[in-house]
Amino acid sequence: MASEQAGAAQVLVASNRGPVTYSLGADGTLDAKRGGGGLVSGLSAVGDEADALWVCAALGEGDREAVRRGVGEPGVRMLDIDADVHAAAYNGVANSVLWFVHHMLYQTPLEPAFGPEFRAQWAAYETYNRAFADALAGEAAPGAAVLVQDYHLALVPGMLRELRPDLRIGHFSHTPWAPVDYFRLLPDDIAEQLLRGMLGADRLGFLTGRWADAFTACCVAVLGGTSGTRIGVHGLGADADFLRERARRADVEERLAALREQIGPDRKVIVRVDRTELSKNIVRGLRAYEQLLADRPEWRGRVVHVAFAYPSRQDLAVYRDYTTEVSRVADAINSAYGTEGWTPVVLHVKDDFARSLAAYRLADVALVNPIRDGMNLVAKEVPVVSDEGCVLVLSREAGAHEELSEDALTVNPYDVSATSVALHEALLMPPAERAERTKRLAAAATALPPTQWFLDQLQALTTP
Ligand code: G6P
Repeated sequence: MASEQAGAAQVLVASNRGPVTYSLGADGTLDAKRGGGGLVSGLSAVGDEADALWVCAALGEGDREAVRRGVGEPGVRMLDIDADVHAAAYNGVANSVLWFVHHMLYQTPLEPAFGPEFRAQWAAYETYNRAFADALAGEAAPGAAVLVQDYHLALVPGMLRELRPDLRIGHFSHTPWAPVDYFRLLPDDIAEQLLRGMLGADRLGFLTGRWADAFTACCVAVLGGTSGTRIGVHGLGADADFLRERARRADVEERLAALREQIGPDRKVIVRVDRTELSKNIVRGLRAYEQLLADRPEWRGRVVHVAFAYPSRQDLAVYRDYTTEVSRVADAINSAYGTEGWTPVVLHVKDDFARSLAAYRLADVALVNPIRDGMNLVAKEVPVVSDEGCVLVLSREAGAHEELSEDALTVNPYDVSATSVALHEALLMPPAERAERTKRLAAAATALPPTQWFLDQLQALTTP
């Protein structure tokens, strides 16, 4: 049964952040910047014939202006949701509460407090989800497949199901899912609403079995069951073809030369690349490196920690403070241990994908130590582009650990001392073993390329 308002799109993706974003120049010109990533390549694989549409939120002044002027990319519809509503939903609910619950990030003084301010933000979250559900209902052809993404849009499946029972609705979580006792920090009515919203989908996708099981456990505890919604696991892999080609281009070569210069000759390199965000555990990573220098003086002057920490969600004080703390700790290590010709930590904060790839290529060790992470693609990308093999020091709490544990050095992300020991072992690993492990890691990391990841979900959704 299709509603009268049905549109023409056969395959729809909905996410907060879309594949393109606009910046508004001082002279009034709009500059489009296209994003990469799994969803972008997945959706382009669907092809024009299928009439694919990506529904996303306008995120800044540039995006809003583009909507007003009717500027856009074919196959993308940006929703100009009221800026205050968006801010409350995105900053207030999604990134201050849901992100913290699923990544288990609450700790004094960051405690959950669900008073009137949160209730107002929750109302905005509902409004924001409603805007997506309405737009999707209007754009989807009869019987179309809709793939809703992430914790920003947990209520959309249920809302859309009511508006358009003819649609096949999927939802995919790119984050971990909280264990029951942690999830139940949320007010009871909201915990229930979130789960019911997601269960409005025909099928739910998660990155690992662990997150899928946690979701099911929450449904059993809060609602008594999953009411027949299908649940699947799709472990997004790295895009080997894209990465290998991209990592050999001239801009990466240039940055590689610059980094080598900055690091100095005959030094080992420990690399990390993250958005600066609490779940990534950057400060404990720096502390572990500091402990390495303290406990094993033989490494002083012989190793450099290249840390790329790209600012993220800077509208929120807790993310800003963390960004400041990362710089402060890096500076303190450099003051304590640096010498005339050796800077122990090279910290870069300006997002530069080409430079990230250059760092992946030259890394002897990659440090990926999140407190919790849905997958963590850095862990999967490094082995693919590494020039001479790289030892992966990997948190057991990253989704990627399920697939990479055999050839990575596993760490408990809270255990700074153990992480420091793992860094030492990684630096000492013989080149042949390192190369062998990297080869196996690359094979495991690319087992499910993004396009296949997307098409598998689409197929699973449309096959009853
Ligand atoms: C995580 C989320 C994504 C989000 C990304 C960047 O990976 O799962 O949905 O897009 O972080 O965060 P941002 O808030 O900048 O979109």
